[in-house]
Amino acid sequence: MTMLEPQTDTVLQSSYQRSVANYWNNNPNDDRVNVKLGEVDGLYHHHYGIGEPDLSVLEGPESTRQERIVRELHRLETAQADLLLDSLGDVRSTDRLLDGGSGRGGTSIMANARFGCRVDGVSISEYQVGFANDQARQRGVSDSVQFHYRNMLDTGFDSRSMRGAWTNETDMYVELPDLFAELSRLLEPGGRYVCVTGCSNDVTGGRSAAVSWIDAHYGCMIHPRSEYFKAMTANNLVPIAVTDLTPATIPYWDLRTHSELATGVEKPFLSSYRDGSFQYLLIAADKVGR
Ligand SMILES: C[S@@+](CC[C@H](N)C(=O)[O-])C[C@H]1O[C@@H](n2cnc3c(N)ncnc32)[C@H](O)[C@@H]1O
Repeated sequence: MTMLEPQTDTVLQSSYQRSVANYWNNNPNDDRVNVKLGEVDGLYHHHYGIGEPDLSVLEGPESTRQERIVRELHRLETAQADLLLDSLGDVRSTDRLLDGGSGRGGTSIMANARFGCRVDGVSISEYQVGFANDQARQRGVSDSVQFHYRNMLDTGFDSRSMRGAWTNETDMYVELPDLFAELSRLLEPGGRYVCVTGCSNDVTGGRSAAVSWIDAHYGCMIHPRSEYFKAMTANNLVPIAVTDLTPATIPYWDLRTHSELATGVEKPFLSSYRDGSFQYLLIAADKVGR
């Protein structure tokens, strides 16, 4: 069944969302990193990495050092998406999954390769949607992996149609109660939601200057950790696992400081992760009730 894609003004519901879409349609500086890393194997991510880097990439011939760093950063970003998919639980080939804020599509393509099921990604960047659909076509999976120019707060998909849903570094662009209301509507009873996000640590008090710097750089609104659990509870999403990925992402950021693709965001990320004011979390939650 082909569904009509909504028109621009119904997708972008506020001037804030228009500015976010504009950023992702035209972000040459940050994009340079994502495109370069994606060219390693054709999986394009717009998220960060986790795991122990192989620091031997910093040794050896200088002429190929940058290329080795790029491959290693990309491996760690793919490892992050793999961990997210590990957390989706039991997914069958007849199930359907939603990628909220799908970027250039890397995580959706990995999900389809792993589970063999249908995956729908939504993004408010028309450019990204076109790019990701091209990737799906090139891989011969465009029947089962489709990207849509839609808002993840109002996807238009049927209620209870998804076995699983995830947001990979996208919830900082929306209000959490609105996002979780829509995801809860889409999930079938017992369906799993997985979120990987950077949040501010409200246990240590107010927002640090570094967290505000990151917000200003990306035009996003990083949420305090406590907001996630309040908004999930209010929307029938019951956490089953919460993993603090902060220690696992710091080595990735350290390695990035050695890359000629470094954009300057490395310093606030590292300082806020190290002083405890910012945290990289994975939250998995199940939908209870109808
Ligand atoms: C940091 S990127 C993450 C992309 C992707 N999840 C990944 O891991 O590669 C943020 C994404 O969120 C999308 N986004 C932001 N607000 C959105 C909204 N309200 N609805 C749908 N997508 C949104 C942007 O267009 C962009 O694709």
